[in-house]
Amino acid sequence: MQKPLPQIQVRNFQINPPLILAPMAGLTHSALRQIIFGFGGVGLLSTEMLSAKRLPSESPRVSPYLIRTPLEKPLSYQLLVSTAGEMAPAIDVLHKLKADAIDLNMGCPAPAVGKFGAGIRLLERPEEVRRMVAEARKLTPLPLTAKIRLGIELDEQKLKDFCAMLEDEGIDMLSVHARTKKESFARRPRWEWITKVKEWLKIPVIANGGIFSVQDAENCLRVSGADGLMIGRGAVTKPWLFAEIAREVYGCKIEEPAVSLPMVYGNFIDLLNELFRPERRLGRLKQFTPYFAQNYKFGHLLATRVQSSKSVDEARERAGIFFLNGT
Ligand SMILES: Cc1cc2nc3c(=O)[nH]c(=O)nc-3n(C[C@H](O)[C@H](O)[C@H](O)COP(=O)(O)O)c2cc1C
Repeated sequence: MQKPLPQIQVRNFQINPPLILAPMAGLTHSALRQIIFGFGGVGLLSTEMLSAKRLPSESPRVSPYLIRTPLEKPLSYQLLVSTAGEMAPAIDVLHKLKADAIDLNMGCPAPAVGKFGAGIRLLERPEEVRRMVAEARKLTPLPLTAKIRLGIELDEQKLKDFCAMLEDEGIDMLSVHARTKKESFARRPRWEWITKVKEWLKIPVIANGGIFSVQDAENCLRVSGADGLMIGRGAVTKPWLFAEIAREVYGCKIEEPAVSLPMVYGNFIDLLNELFRPERRLGRLKQFTPYFAQNYKFGHLLATRVQSSKSVDEARERAGIFFLNGT
């Protein structure tokens, strides 16, 4: 296999290696980002989607969506926007927060988001998207990126026109989750469709969906011809996955991670306790655990015990017992 380019240049900003953490609601907060960053190999971190409308009233010191440490760098902030008018106040906040890049969510299929015409529904509103991107481009010198799915349904011409419009209006890089709106995670992602997007555009195209191992990363790059990879669930299960891919696929000089699962889990709880208000911690632990538990043969036991815990301390204790016995 031809070695992929080791970095992406977006404006005067380098993503090196071209491995990006996918935005994930309830998961890609400061605690997980710090753990992933600690293992290395990630070229760009990401927040979860942030409502552009609500952003100006969030407090960066206490909002679990905005809390970050100087360590988490470079960090892209993802905006959930439904009209061009929401752009200016939100971008103003992101400049104050020292965002390294701004991503626009055009792929979320959740009905609660679609109700406002946001997320993947934007694919049906290309003229509003044109205004949104043009407005954002006028307002920020930062790398401006977008994340899409393949479409509401598969329609090559529609997808092509939409992607070309994004590039024309000044999007610097496009991440493509290789599924349509209706396609669930159970379906194999259509990495081969990313090849088409890549042919249509000059800007870097990032492949997303279904990368859980070094082998998946190699396959995805081979099939898609993408300029880089965006990884979501795989990095929650194995926060060291970026380090492995960076070393084995991109030849980065990164130590083979010495992984102690109980230590990673304990560290995650410590960070939740350190960063977030008490009422915000347990929910996030419960969201993280089913992914992390997949590292164990009987991980479903860990997940259900944490799920029924009434406090973070109880969850920690139950997890400790599980780690000792493996069941
Ligand atoms: C729990 C969860 C939350 C997600 N939240 C977001 C989000 O806030 N913004 C977004 O663009 N995509 C979101 N996604 C989609 C992911 O970014 C990614 O496109 C998807 O999980 C496929 O990549 P993966 O197979 O590497 O996980 C979310 C996915 C999951 C599982």
